[in-house]
Order: sequence, then structure tokens, then C-alpha cells
Amino acid sequence: MRHEEKALNRIAADMVVDHVGQLCTLHDPELVAGPRRGDGMASLGIVTDGALVIRDGRVLDCGPRDRVLADAVVGSSTELVDADGACVVPGWVDPHTHAVYGRTRQDEFERRIRGETYLEIAAAGGGIHASVADLRTRSQDDLIALTVKRLLELRSFGTTTIEIKSGYGLSFEDEVKMLRAARIASRVADMGAVLTCLAAHELPGEYRDRRGEYVALICEEILPTVAAEHLAERLDVFCEPTVFDLEETETILRTGLDLGLRACVHADELASFGGAALAARLGADSADHLIRIDADGISALAASDTVAVLLPGTVFTLGLQKYAPARELIAAGCAVALATDYNPGSSPVPSMPLIQSIACTQMRMSPAEALVAVTLNAAWALGRAHDVGSLAPGKQADFLILDADDYRLVAYHAGRNPVAAVYREGRRLNS
Ligand code: NIG
Ligand code: FE
Repeated sequence: MRHEEKALNRIAADMVVDHVGQLCTLHDPELVAGPRRGDGMASLGIVTDGALVIRDGRVLDCGPRDRVLADAVVGSSTELVDADGACVVPGWVDPHTHAVYGRTRQDEFERRIRGETYLEIAAAGGGIHASVADLRTRSQDDLIALTVKRLLELRSFGTTTIEIKSGYGLSFEDEVKMLRAARIASRVADMGAVLTCLAAHELPGEYRDRRGEYVALICEEILPTVAAEHLAERLDVFCEPTVFDLEETETILRTGLDLGLRACVHADELASFGGAALAARLGADSADHLIRIDADGISALAASDTVAVLLPGTVFTLGLQKYAPARELIAAGCAVALATDYNPGSSPVPSMPLIQSIACTQMRMSPAEALVAVTLNAAWALGRAHDVGSLAPGKQADFLILDADDYRLVAYHAGRNPVAAVYREGRRLNS
């Protein structure tokens, strides 16, 4: 046995990434397992002059280059990548998107600039309703083609794992069509994907006077099929006074949880409504948005494993002034993650680097906190922290070589793409 183990360890590495000027591993053996909170949110596990050894798509070793290279088994088949002093970080994990949709909604963008609000446009049949009407006319193949193109754009900004929600179908057939399209598109685009059923994104127009019947359709038909056919692994509800109230949200979430799905909630975005506290009480993966979260919501999240997923691209795009209270959430001990909320209405923002910039300048997160929020904490929010979100032995070799020698340059250069090379499971994805 010992002999065999030794022989196994002599197998040459598939790849060695050398001359990493600043290796942000996000790995900190001193910290307890779980999402980062408080001061831990700024701990990046930085190695200066590092190297990374990869085998079978996973990190075999990483750390100071002298030690790592001395231990590495390099053979004729080992690919050597010279990072030339650059900064290397884990691939971004984007834990909240609506990446499957048909047409874009720049008409509403212009109307908002002229003074109409998101809710006024929604009440007049725009907003989510406009995307639903459009999506229902599209074939699954059409949606796959559109989504692949969009995912490749998100990937070019460094996203290697993405959450994708349904929610523009709002009927049995169209929700299933969206989830199937999301699955196929993420495979074609070579991205790690976590799919979420958001049939409770809005009340479809045809159910306007029959709310209970739509909740029943979700609970009795859509979610059971989603769970039985593994079309998604999670469910989400848009919990707001104007969409689904707390009671409806709890009914839908409990049904999904009982079916074995995990949960997340669009919570406390437009009104302080108690969605975050409900998410914490039900053990949801995350509570998302949180612009209007109150003190009770913050303490409920802080005392739970539910991650606070903040979506500053939405506030930015809608031209609002109030961002989620990131500093209060961090001070209270909540685990904070960041996402694009990529969607055709409130956040057509494909760039996780831009999200980090906005988080720093508008929510006063430090560049280090923002980096934790788009990697390790985002991975925890998706139940994927065992595989992605940090660079440590055994984890997937998903990493970015930056066109920068300091991670702070990611947030500093707002709007720039700082990603020189994207690797997923040890394979280079962009050229
Ligand atoms: O997360 N809040 C609800 N859903 C999206 C908006 C979707 C849309 O406008 O199409 C969001 O912001
Ligand atoms: Fe959203």
C-alpha cells in the first residue's frame, strides 16, 4: 500500500503555474470551515511568489514557489504556464443571475432615465411581464443560442461558476424550457452551473385574479417535476409586498424544501418586508438584494448560515441612491457575497469585476472583502464551497491570471476587464 501510494504521488503534474507574483488562495487554515464573516472577510491567504500545481483538473498543491516546485513532479507531459509576476485569483462565482432571457429591455432603461420608476413600468405591463411575454414565444434552441453567447461574455470577465434562475416562463412548459436551456447552455459555454427554479418570480397576468391557483400550480406541479427530474437543485421566491407576500413565500419555500430542493429568496429589496428573516428561519442558502433589510433581518442572518447576497449592479442600473447596508451586515457578523443579478431589466451587467468596483465605492466594502464575496462566500451561497471559491489542494483548478500584479486593481479600474486568462478544471478557456 505504501509503495502504491508513493508510486501514485510520482505521477507527473498536468500543469504547473509558476511565477505568480501574488497568489490569492483565499485559503486560511486558521479559520473555521464556513463562509467568511467579520475580519475573516478580508483574509485572502496571499502568497507572494507563488506557484500552483494541477492534476486531473484539481489543485494538487499551491503555495510559495520554492517549496511547491521542490515537491512537484514535473514530467515531459507537464504544461508549464508562466504567470510572469501576475496576480492569480480563484475564478469568480456569480451566485445570482437571470441569464436566460429573450430580448433586451433598453426601452425601459430609457424610460427610467426620463423619470418612470421600475414599479410603474412593471405595473404598466413592462418589467418581468415584458420578458415573460417575449420568452414564451421562443424555442428552447433559440434560448440556448442566446444564453451561450451571454455566458461566454460573463466568462470573459472571469466567471467560472454561475447560478442561473428560471422565472421568465411562469407556466409549467416555459419554466421547464428555461431550465433545460440553462443546463444545456452552461455545458456548451463550459461553466459550472447551479440552477434555481424561480417560478415564483411574478404572478403571471392570466392568474391576476387567481393568485391561489398560481401558488398551487407552483407547489403541486412545477416544483415536484423540477425536483423529480433534477431540472434545478434550488428554488427562489420574489418576496415583496407587490409580488409574493410572506405567507405565500413560506408556503412555496417549504414545499420546495420538502421536495429536497435548497432555497434562496429575493428579499427586502423594494420594501422592508421580513424576507431575509424568513430565509434565515427556513435555512435558505441565501437571502438576496437586502437594500431595505432592517435590524431584525440583519440579526437573523448573522445568527444563521444563510449568506447575504448583495446585488449592487441593480441599484446602479436603476439609478437609485440606496445600496444594501454592507458595512452593517459585515459588522453584525453576516456572511456577505456579491453577484451580478445579470438580467435584462434591473441589471444587464455581465462583469463581476465591475460589481466589485461598485461594492467598494458605493457600499464601502474593502477590495479584499469584495474578493472574498465573489469567490469563497459566493461558493458557500451556492453550496459549492467544497469544489470552488478558493485555491487549496483538492479543489477544482478554476483560476484567473490577471492582467495586474495586485488584486486591488480589479476594483480600482472600474469598467476595465482585468482578466488575462480563465482556467476551469485546469483547462484554459479563453484565448
Ligand atoms: O433580481 N427582483 C426581481 N427580479 C430581477 C429583475 C428581473 C427583471 O426586471 O427582469 C432582479 O432584480
Ligand atoms: Fe434577481
